[in-house]
Amino acid sequence: MSVRRIGVLTSGGDAPGMNAAIRAAVRAALNSNLEVMGIFRGFEGLINQDLKVFDHRAVSNIIGRGGTILKTARSADFMTEEGQKRAVETVKKFGLDGLILIGGNGTYNGGIVLSRKWNVPCIGVPGTIDNDINGTDSTIGADTAVNTALEAIDKIRDTVTSMERIFVVEVMGRDSGFIAVQVGLASGSEDVLIPERKFEIHKMCHDMVEGNLRGKVSWIVIVAEGAAKAEDVAKQITEITSLETRVAVLGHIQRGGSPTAKDRNLASMLGAEAVNLLNRGETCKAVGVISENINIVDLEFAVTKKELKTDNFYQLIKTLT
Ligand code: F6P
Repeated sequence: MSVRRIGVLTSGGDAPGMNAAIRAAVRAALNSNLEVMGIFRGFEGLINQDLKVFDHRAVSNIIGRGGTILKTARSADFMTEEGQKRAVETVKKFGLDGLILIGGNGTYNGGIVLSRKWNVPCIGVPGTIDNDINGTDSTIGADTAVNTALEAIDKIRDTVTSMERIFVVEVMGRDSGFIAVQVGLASGSEDVLIPERKFEIHKMCHDMVEGNLRGKVSWIVIVAEGAAKAEDVAKQITEITSLETRVAVLGHIQRGGSPTAKDRNLASMLGAEAVNLLNRGETCKAVGVISENINIVDLEFAVTKKELKTDNFYQLIKTLT
């Protein structure tokens, strides 16, 4: 079957660079003589027929903008058989021959259902700050999020050093310590707590007290949200060491802002490649980049647990403290 019209959506947590991916998918499709529809609020837009035809101008001047012009949502309705039926009806009604789904694991799981169960060709483009998608070295938004968090932690370092304090900084990552490890090393932080690695609070506290005796009076601990709550870690530190602590939860600022060049370029490559795959009649695939080369995997593989190689970074953080 030849592909004539495709749909593009963003779903799940937004990530900087999603707009660049939308732009790439829309322009690549139009330039290969396909029609494109932008679908709003992820799978919700499919269920509620909230979509419209996009032309070249619909994606003008968005390559550097954070967020997603298509809006995004985590759709509970799409989890139901009824919701899926309505989504597929929309696909048929509007003559969509394939979908490009930009998002993370939840989005990819939706793509697996749509393609395997309902025969709707789907290609996934990895858009998430968590960098927890398999088959790609990096996901769109991860680099920007790391740099945003780093900028904040550098500022925290100024006050930490001036007031000779212990600070616990919480970064995003429900199941992934990617941001925590990256900013931990880049900010010269003294410790990092991540979901992937067992952590001994007493050992850290012992190091703090010892350091304190040697004259090392400021300390930054980075905590990935999936490992612990910064507030709890700070309380424990004070209970064990009697040292004063302060807490900062960086939260959603990590999801906003203008994407870095790396994220814009990744998004541009992968958005365009997703169109190529649909044109070739592929389905249930995810596009990614490994060692600067395009890499294609099944969506089922893309959602398997990605191994986070933290040991080198973790050792370096300790070596350099
Ligand atoms: O998946 C991206 C992410 O930012 C996670 O790091 C975080 O745990 C989650 O989304 C937060 O989701 P929400 O914006 O729905 O609170």
